[in-house]
Amino acid sequence: MQFQTFDTYEALSKAAAVAIAEEVRANPRAVLGLATGSTPLGLYRELIRLHREEGLSFAQVKTFNLDEYYGLAPDHSQSYHHFMWENLFSHIDISKENINIPSGTPDDVDAYCRAYDARINEVGGIDLQILGIGTNGHIGFNEPGEELTPRCHRVQLAEATIEANARFFDNAADVPRTAITMGMESILQAKKIMLLANGEAKAPVIGKLQTSGITTKIPATLLRLHRHVHVYVDAAAASQLAR
Ligand code: F6R
Repeated sequence: MQFQTFDTYEALSKAAAVAIAEEVRANPRAVLGLATGSTPLGLYRELIRLHREEGLSFAQVKTFNLDEYYGLAPDHSQSYHHFMWENLFSHIDISKENINIPSGTPDDVDAYCRAYDARINEVGGIDLQILGIGTNGHIGFNEPGEELTPRCHRVQLAEATIEANARFFDNAADVPRTAITMGMESILQAKKIMLLANGEAKAPVIGKLQTSGITTKIPATLLRLHRHVHVYVDAAAASQLAR
């Protein structure tokens, strides 16, 4: 795992965008794994700028999002479908049929999840997976616990996640209690992984990511099993990293 520290969130976002642009220019048919939340917003803004001003094309790129709240329809203002269209997809030349976001309202969760995992395999797996990290160490919505589920599944959100995400809803009671998430195995099968973290609130978990052994109690530590993980942190999130 390689840690790279940037002075500001803007610098981190630009560097992440440059790495993705390099990937897409080298392989216009790249398969990207995408995250939502506040962390990648700067990255998405920068990708939109690269598309508009520097001709970066996503015409043949395929994307797979990590997760979606269970029970939220795609047009719900807090759904991750809505988030992705609002913050990235509407502003770039990606084809609708190349976009994959887990459904929050599948009829049969198990069958839906099997099909989602199968779609990832059919396109040859994810080339570059972008991740944020929860203050509790979750990635995607793989929450800390005694065990982790390897493949796509419906998950009970941790209290810490519900609290952290309440800021996007009118009140905490409106935050869905469960979600559909890609599993750890699918994340670890990505060829390259880029984890982004900014802000003081992420400093303790980033510190632990550097020092802790692999444990399901901090799901992000499983990234130690992967050969190519770049962790991009701003100065605030890096404040508990050993030099
Ligand atoms: C979102 C996701 C989550 C977030 C994490 C951090 O698709 O998978 O793991 O990356 O909760 O969220 P923010 O960026 O809002 O701090």
